[in-house]
Amino acid sequence: MSDHDLEGSRRDGLRSEGESNRSSLRAEWQSRNVDARSRSWLETDAAYFMHQSLSTPCIDVLARCQGAYLETLQGKRFLDFHGNSVHQVGFGHPKVIEAVRRQMETLPFCPRRFTNVPAIELAKKLALLAPGDLGKVLFAPGGTSAIGMALKLARMATGRFKTVSMWDAFHGASLDAVSIGGESLFRRGVGPLLPGTEHVPPPDPRHCPFACGNTCTARCADYVDYVLDKEGDVAAVIGETVRSTPYIPPPDYWTKIRKACDRHGALLILDEVPNCLGRTGKMFACEHYGMIPDMLVIGKGLGGGVFPLAALIARPDLDVAPDFALGHYTHEKNPVGCAAALAAIEVVETEGLCARAAELGVYALERLAELKTRQPAIADVRGIGLLLGVEVDAGGGDTAALAERALYAALEGGLSFKISMGNILTLTPPLTISRDELDAAMDILESALALAARGITRGPESGPDRT
Ligand SMILES: Cc1ncc(COP(=O)(O)O)c(C=O)c1O
Repeated sequence: MSDHDLEGSRRDGLRSEGESNRSSLRAEWQSRNVDARSRSWLETDAAYFMHQSLSTPCIDVLARCQGAYLETLQGKRFLDFHGNSVHQVGFGHPKVIEAVRRQMETLPFCPRRFTNVPAIELAKKLALLAPGDLGKVLFAPGGTSAIGMALKLARMATGRFKTVSMWDAFHGASLDAVSIGGESLFRRGVGPLLPGTEHVPPPDPRHCPFACGNTCTARCADYVDYVLDKEGDVAAVIGETVRSTPYIPPPDYWTKIRKACDRHGALLILDEVPNCLGRTGKMFACEHYGMIPDMLVIGKGLGGGVFPLAALIARPDLDVAPDFALGHYTHEKNPVGCAAALAAIEVVETEGLCARAAELGVYALERLAELKTRQPAIADVRGIGLLLGVEVDAGGGDTAALAERALYAALEGGLSFKISMGNILTLTPPLTISRDELDAAMDILESALALAARGITRGPESGPDRT
């Protein structure tokens, strides 16, 4: 890649899945907040791990996480409104930890020729919970792999290979997943991707090529029908039911696409890897849309925040490839992961976390809307359940830099979140969070935005720099 291309991809990287790990703002934050011992560990991390966007070189070293909090080696605590979307039940939920501990003592692994009770119970539970007749399950050690299985199954079931997916989408970082994904950070410069992976605009009214303005008219859903018609032989449409950014499609978006798929013989695969198990206020996000996909892919929090686990849940009549290896992952039915998942689902159900996410989400969104009236740097606030977004705009200035300042000011105040697409502060707290913790986070966010809008990341009241 030329220097020019590299610079371009760094800029696009900023409009993607997180902040740059090489910015001067990060270096400044570290110089103030990271002590010599942690800095030494960070240097060792950077010496032994490959450097890549969004991870190494890392920002700090963690020692523990509990509930809604991360704690660094030197004892600094952050309310974690990011959690890589694994912490629906909070970090280290005692029921999950106990289930894992118990399982590790009896059956910590299961070779693929065998099955085990936690795996069977989990498959049965997911089939019971999933909407409609979705009832045949395959597990994988991560969302990316589960997406890969869904793509293979779509080919097997339809005899077709083409897909239609969304620009800006993320479905994982492997070559098949980035082929259907739509973020240049993951696609650019890596060479040929899968053939037949067509892309359409996502339901993002603020950047809509159909110029629908600030309210989605679902014309992009009509366009999916058009593309399916023109292509004629598409195996599957695949999309994130709600994009974590968040982009929240209007109520008729998925019903339109569902009908278009049916008209053209394409399957509908919905990716709910980060947003399943209650995040949006329902167990599965597609329950908000009154239609049922042919396949649902879930992951992340499914492993209770302790184990990498994802699942493909499909219509029973798609069980059509008994002689083909759809998954074949070593940890396919790992009993420890399945025990963690069963415990996590039990927590979601017994602690009423779907209803809790819906209720706290309404409250949080009201607070954000109120903040928007006082903070001109906020261009939009939106959310569904406890998936919340604050879109910032520097009004002609450098918006990505504004978002980054807000992040580092928030970290300074003890709140961690993700920046999506360069300018959307994405807030995904645990669903177990208390109202007080939520209020504390909103206060930190408000102060952080005020500082960021003034071009700084800390006020005079902040403590002295660390050396
Ligand atoms: C929507 C979506 N799909 C798939 C994935 C990939 O999941 P994993 O990282 O577990 O492979 C992610 C991860 O962030 C995601 O957000």
